[in-house]
Amino acid sequence: KRLLPLFAGLVLLLSACGRSDLSTLNPQGPVADKQFDLMLLAITIMTIVVVAVFGIAIYVVIRYRRRPGQEEIPKQIEGNHKLEVIWTVIPILLLIILAVPTVKYVFAFAEDYSGDPDAVNVKVTGHQFWWEFEYTDLGINTAHDLVIPKGKKIAIELRTADVLHSFWVPAIAGKMDTNPQGNVNKMFIEAYEAGLYRGKCAEFCGQSHALMEFKVKSVSEETFKAWVAEMKAEPKAFEGDLKVAESFKQNCLTCHAIDNAPALGPNLKGFGSREAVAGIMLNRETADEPIEQAVVEEHLRQWITEPQKVKPGNTMPAFKEQLSEEELDGIVKYLAEYKLESLKEFNKQ
Ligand code: CUA
Repeated sequence: KRLLPLFAGLVLLLSACGRSDLSTLNPQGPVADKQFDLMLLAITIMTIVVVAVFGIAIYVVIRYRRRPGQEEIPKQIEGNHKLEVIWTVIPILLLIILAVPTVKYVFAFAEDYSGDPDAVNVKVTGHQFWWEFEYTDLGINTAHDLVIPKGKKIAIELRTADVLHSFWVPAIAGKMDTNPQGNVNKMFIEAYEAGLYRGKCAEFCGQSHALMEFKVKSVSEETFKAWVAEMKAEPKAFEGDLKVAESFKQNCLTCHAIDNAPALGPNLKGFGSREAVAGIMLNRETADEPIEQAVVEEHLRQWITEPQKVKPGNTMPAFKEQLSEEELDGIVKYLAEYKLESLKEFNKQ
């Protein structure tokens, strides 16, 4: 009876891990699939070992227990060649069974698809605390949302702008470090179907490590083409007062970019389609439902005026006095409403 709450807690914990967009137990791509197979294999072998060892131990304790009236010391045995060979050979065999597929997959996942004409090449750079995605063949630079065509190999090159991070999309593939020493790590990801998968930084990298999230949006081939065309087009123009446009340029575009140029901070093109501010953090609780414009605007306002409160330790300065109420309003509206036509259908789900 005392164990009941414990079990209930465990079930609750496991069900929380079962979120399909952030779970290794629900593989949605070939790499995650094989990784899941390896986990199953390891768990199966471990279960067999545990059951066998505990079974024998319990059997021996019961079968050879001291019975009433039994006074003499049982026969003392020292060494048994046959047994020793058996308990050496069995673990060796089990380790070989584990090692062969593990080594095989390690090499399979290290396959470099960057030269594959069918693959999409993406240079991923980890920053404290956001992810930059540069589509090297397509001339696109973006952040936070990695948009990929389903069923295609995405050849990924991992770098860092500062410290060690680790790129991980649990339901699709992972995880691999970004290395500060300048050496580039390579991996590939692929999603079977269209869908939203959440990604995480999986290496402690500072104060807001836990908030360094990103999304992988796997879309159909047509949607991807439309997205590429939209990302390569001229950025959306400011409407109305030119003062706001000038303020945006002066204050925001010093560190950010609105075209595909690399910048110090996350690229802002198509910002409204990300349905999140500062990655995912502000909209985390509503991430499963369509997010209301007013909520995004409120979060954006909070981010611009108090970025350290939202994501401690990030490099965004607070813009409080520098912006007039009118300028802040205009910038927030522009960014929140800057939605990409190509992702409208996708973002509804
Ligand atoms: Cu980046 Cu942890």
